[in-house]
Amino acid sequence: MSDNISQFPTQPEGTEGDLRAEAQRVSEAEGLSLTELSQLTGVHKTRLSQWLKGKYAGNNASIEADVRRWLESRRASQELEGQLPAAPTWVETLSARSVLSALSFAQMAEAVSVIYGGAGTGKTTTVRQYQEQAPNVWVVTATPASASTGPILKRIAQTLGMRTSGTVDQLEANIIDRVRDTRGLLVIDEAQHLTHRALDAVRSIHDAADIGLALVGNEIVYSQLTGGSRSVGFAQLFSRVAKRVRLAKAKDADVLALVDAWGIQDKDSRQLCLSIGRRPGALRGLSQTLRLASMFATTAGAGRPGVEHIRDAWADLGGEA
Ligand SMILES: Nc1ncnc2c1ncn2[C@@H]1O[C@H](COP(=O)(O)OP(=O)(O)OP(=O)(O)O)[C@@H](O)[C@H]1O
Ligand SMILES: [Mg+2]
Repeated sequence: MSDNISQFPTQPEGTEGDLRAEAQRVSEAEGLSLTELSQLTGVHKTRLSQWLKGKYAGNNASIEADVRRWLESRRASQELEGQLPAAPTWVETLSARSVLSALSFAQMAEAVSVIYGGAGTGKTTTVRQYQEQAPNVWVVTATPASASTGPILKRIAQTLGMRTSGTVDQLEANIIDRVRDTRGLLVIDEAQHLTHRALDAVRSIHDAADIGLALVGNEIVYSQLTGGSRSVGFAQLFSRVAKRVRLAKAKDADVLALVDAWGIQDKDSRQLCLSIGRRPGALRGLSQTLRLASMFATTAGAGRPGVEHIRDAWADLGGEA
């Protein structure tokens, strides 16, 4: 069966025909294949193909309901996207500078840096920025499911664009071969998920291949390295930590840098932003609030969000006064 949607003839008039025509129009405009359209609508490919031709003999109403739901949710998300102004994607805050310097040190000196702290303080955003500006930076995000040695090595191999099959031992050897002499930096984000053994496996790659290593995550990342139940491997890893950056919460200067980037100048708004940025969730909570506040401001016909828009947005997102 061909995967091309534009081959289907124009459909007859009527609601059903309109729906078909609309589905085809959107698919063509967005270059969707039949497979993609099937995934998006949740309608099986064969049935969808027959329905698009107007030749489906089964329950047409059920397919139409699925297609209509897809078109409506697409419309709703487009509307929201149109209203939500883009947040400034990158602002070089004071905290970001200390993270950038720890990453660059780990890479240059083939050393280990640990960057840890509170939620929303800009760790991941800064790692991504560093990845944009330096060569051979591989960022792997650990999850509860990839906490142990095999899965995390697989993720690393995937990130390096390598085959992930074979034994754990082969995987490790292949990774080391691939990264040796690259002057690269391996970053493990959300490193608090890694088991002791998995952390030790990552340390071994750093040791054997002479590349930099950055462990990034919440407070647990560091306490794991210094905790009482340290294994020998942990002591080895800890003794290699050359640089440590703790971002317990966002600094006021970070918040103000973000607020400047949003062009928010009045004193009351800045003060309110400072108090939002000091809450748990830090710059994440602030960025979400400012996006919503900008939407409120646009709806109200104001240029930039004022203090009342920011206050409403914060409350709307469930923030406490
Ligand atoms: N330097 C920055 N420039 C612009 N926006 C930023 C910056 N740092 C953080 N933000 C905003 O704050 C949000 C949260 O930041 P980020 O995801 O980097 O935090 P994190 O420290 O990795 O948090 P977590 O510990 O929860 O993973 C980002 O999605 C972005 O909107
Ligand atoms: Mg993060």
